[in-house]
Amino acid sequence: MTETDVSYLALEPVFPLSRDPELARWRASLEPPPPPFKPTLREAADDPGDARRLKDLQLACEPITVQTVQHNATTIAEHLVLLAEIGNVHVGFCIASNGSGSPDPTFIQVVAVAPPAPRRGVATALLDSIRARASQHDIAFATREDNAAARALTTRFAERIGASLRPVPSGTYRHGDLGTAHGLGYHPWLMNMRKPQSSQVWRSKYSSDPVVVHRRPGLAIEAALLRVQRQEPLL
Ligand SMILES: CC(C)(COP(=O)(O)OP(=O)(O)OC[C@H]1O[C@@H](n2cnc3c(N)ncnc32)[C@H](O)[C@@H]1OP(=O)(O)O)[C@@H](O)C(=O)NCCC(=O)NCCS
Repeated sequence: MTETDVSYLALEPVFPLSRDPELARWRASLEPPPPPFKPTLREAADDPGDARRLKDLQLACEPITVQTVQHNATTIAEHLVLLAEIGNVHVGFCIASNGSGSPDPTFIQVVAVAPPAPRRGVATALLDSIRARASQHDIAFATREDNAAARALTTRFAERIGASLRPVPSGTYRHGDLGTAHGLGYHPWLMNMRKPQSSQVWRSKYSSDPVVVHRRPGLAIEAALLRVQRQEPLL
């Protein structure tokens, strides 16, 4: 066992968890915060302290899988991990990755917020921040049937950013990218960003003149057909 392994082990909470002093201190500081409630977001540092903070949050946020402190340190080193804090107290986190294929969406693997701070926009702030880092990328996310909060958050977030949300068949993305595991009932979703529309020249079969459209051609065609049905001029 290396020195690093030993230092991570020393940061594991003691059992029973109710006797772990650090966990008890953190839980005591997790009072419902008074308004205005504005979390500070930062990228988790690749150090044992933040790896342990992630573990505190995993222990508090069912049904998130609880990992070892050392595993969390590897996750922080290999993924984008954001911590949400209120006055230096960690209240939520999010893990995202870019995926192993190209072009791949941004994968949101986990988003979790500690119980005293729910429905105050912390998860939304974390997701906003991930999205701001890759605003042109689609976003993939998996939810379990029994996780109504995660499903509602996904729907609400897609609405918020003006993305279309659709289920994608299991197996479209690797479990490693989605942060899921086989056989646990995860359903993947894709939030499809509506790309900024560039002007395109579309030639209508009803007119010899080219039509410059600033929307996707499908919409222009639908609009043109409607005009034909109404016997309106095409241009
Ligand atoms: C899901 C979770 C991350 C939401 O965090 P949050 O900070 O409370 O979410 P927000 O305040 O940003 O909520 C945004 C929207 O999501 C929806 N939502 C969030 N929690 C919800 C709940 N428990 N029930 C129904 N809808 C919910 C709502 O539409 C909400 O908007 P509103 O409050 O204006 O109605 C949090 O409940 C959690 O940590 N759960 C345990 C871990 C988990 O299951 N994570 C998701 C899978 S990785």
